[in-house]
Amino acid sequence: MRNKIAIVTGGTSGIGKEIARGLARAGFLVGIVCRSEMRGRAAVEELTADVPGARIETFLADLSALQDVRRVAASLEERFDRLDVLVDNAGVHMMRAKESADGFDRMVATNHLGPFLLTNLLLGPLEKAAPSRIVIVASEAHRFADRLDPARMAEPGSYRAAGSLRVYGRSKLMNILFAQELARRLEGSGVTVNAMCPGFVATGLTRELPGNARIGGLLSHTPVMRTPAQGARMALKLALDEEFEGRTGGFYSSTPGAGLVPEAGPLKNEVLRRAVWEQSARLVGLPPR
Ligand SMILES: NC(=O)c1ccc[n+]([C@@H]2O[C@H](COP(=O)([O-])OP(=O)(O)OC[C@H]3O[C@@H](n4cnc5c(N)ncnc54)[C@H](OP(=O)(O)O)[C@@H]3O)[C@@H](O)[C@H]2O)c1
Repeated sequence: MRNKIAIVTGGTSGIGKEIARGLARAGFLVGIVCRSEMRGRAAVEELTADVPGARIETFLADLSALQDVRRVAASLEERFDRLDVLVDNAGVHMMRAKESADGFDRMVATNHLGPFLLTNLLLGPLEKAAPSRIVIVASEAHRFADRLDPARMAEPGSYRAAGSLRVYGRSKLMNILFAQELARRLEGSGVTVNAMCPGFVATGLTRELPGNARIGGLLSHTPVMRTPAQGARMALKLALDEEFEGRTGGFYSSTPGAGLVPEAGPLKNEVLRRAVWEQSARLVGLPPR
């Protein structure tokens, strides 16, 4: 029987490492896309020591840089002609605005434009392996997005910690709109796409936030704060469980109480969804599909 292949971006730490561990336990050959060779090697050593027979490979790329994304997509396609699962997990919450190598806001480039391009470039191998699944790690923080103007969505800005949540929230809203639109475009292909929120998870994501250690310390005594393994559960269900076979275009939140809050308006906005897709495609240089 052919080995199943899964790609996880940002599999070197936090939620991504736990997603990679879960997929390795399920028997997948796991390709981790990461930007540090050293952290990649450490993750491979940890996961292979923990999961008997695990096969983990690393592929280096800084997802905020489009040239790197194109290069790693080509390496992945050369190595694997079929992909069963792609988990777009890598992400950052930057507390201070920075510009990406391509002149975009670096948080938006890392969290949305890089994954948008990578996923589009890997559709061939995903379609070949169908039924196959794409899981996008988004966030309930999409509710902090404020207004999302597609024409200006990746413009470099000048925010600091206080304003950073709006930009982070916008990048996570783009994740969900991307999942919805890609699911629509892939209807009938056998490739499903879903977005999820892992809840509030103790990872290094907010390491730059002033007072992060103190807030984290306080929250760790409450059931609100989850471990990375708990945070990975929903992504693993979407990637593996029979229950989700054929289900596509959804946003699944594991944040306690999220089900009690109405869906955010932009998630019902088809015009916005298409506009974000078209602008993303223009910015990363993808032909209309
Ligand atoms: N923690 C939470 O409470 C929470 C809540 C909702 C959603 N999320 C989402 O969960 C995902 C994982 O975050 P986490 O909490 O597990 O944080 P984390 O421990 O900081 O992990 C983030 C991962 O993304 C990688 N990454 C960051 N920038 C990258 C780049 N430019 N190129 C390639 N890889 C890059 C990191 O690699 P390095 O090791 O090189 O930095 C790391 O492996 C993110 O998408 C985040 O938005 C987290």
